[in-house]
Amino acid sequence: MTKKLIPLAVPDIGENEIELIKQVFDTNFLTEGKFTADFETEVANYLGVKNAIACTSCTTALHTVFECLDIKGKEVIVSDYTYPASAEAIILAGGIPVLADVDLESMNITADILEESYSEGMTVFEPISWAGVPLESNVYKKAKELGLIVVEDAACSIGAQINSEFVGNIADFSCFSFHPRKVITTGEGGMITTNNEEIASKCRSYKHFGAVGSAFEMIGTNYKLSNVLGAIGIEQMKKIEDIIKTRNEKAKIYQEMLNGIDGIKPAYSKKEFRQTFQSYTCYVEKEGMRDKIRKKLSDENIQSQIGTYSLHLEPAYRNMKKVGNLENSEKLFYNALTLPLHKNLTYDDQQRICNIIKETINE
Ligand SMILES: Cc1ncc(COP(=O)(O)O)c(C=O)c1O
Repeated sequence: MTKKLIPLAVPDIGENEIELIKQVFDTNFLTEGKFTADFETEVANYLGVKNAIACTSCTTALHTVFECLDIKGKEVIVSDYTYPASAEAIILAGGIPVLADVDLESMNITADILEESYSEGMTVFEPISWAGVPLESNVYKKAKELGLIVVEDAACSIGAQINSEFVGNIADFSCFSFHPRKVITTGEGGMITTNNEEIASKCRSYKHFGAVGSAFEMIGTNYKLSNVLGAIGIEQMKKIEDIIKTRNEKAKIYQEMLNGIDGIKPAYSKKEFRQTFQSYTCYVEKEGMRDKIRKKLSDENIQSQIGTYSLHLEPAYRNMKKVGNLENSEKLFYNALTLPLHKNLTYDDQQRICNIIKETINE
């Protein structure tokens, strides 16, 4: 008999989203409009930030910010351990990614790595708060000392906090993702948040064909988020605190179960942080064991994932500028393991998963 499927992720969507989509249909105004604007307001109010600008994805949100900061021909430090989108957005805007290593535990860039990677002439820096783990506060501080504008790829981090301060209101610019594997979803979607009024206006224009009022003042593009997706976003924002609470509760259960298994380091956590656990990513210490565990989980109808990519190992990124040997990024690429985490995941499911991990390691 086939064993019960445990999916990696399940979006928290339902009747409320459908009801609001119906209201959008009733207006006959499906493109970006009032519902998108209301979603932006919800996000801005939640984070306490002045501007929230909806885009079609986190990738297009990042691209919009980089275009409006004019990074053409400039080097931009970015974590090597990330999804390609982070570097693609730099390249789309004519910038040059400089791939930097991350900390093996937090999986994020550190102030020391930033300092080592910095060189004269850089103006913009793109850290990633990966998996919903905030950056260390001293990363923002170091960037400021170096005179760098911080554009945070916060794809995984809506709702994350450092000492109760929201990610999205700390960096100069933060970009979020609403892809279905993220904390909240609109199917596909993204958001820029910033307190910089001047660049915010530019971003609003850029994503809307370069329009300012009825005039096209710059060359832009179309990254507008439709009212249909905006409506989903409004309903998702009503649930965000419950979603994060549930994710943290289930993450805590994993921490306890995995703590008892030799050879596994549970996901990173820190007292000062409220994490989103967008991905529950642990670390398998023995080389080659991560893939063995993934195979066993898959045989038992349990979905899992790697962590994310080590960009310099991917064909399109092999010749890009790198800082150091990117050793931690490589280790994470080969050994990090993301486990299922969603509202339907039961205690028994978590026990089943952790038992399989333990058995595989002890074989
Ligand atoms: C760190 C990071 N940045 C950006 C993205 C891309 O987000 P989107 O799919 O909204 O463009 C992802 C997607 O997984 C991601 O993990």
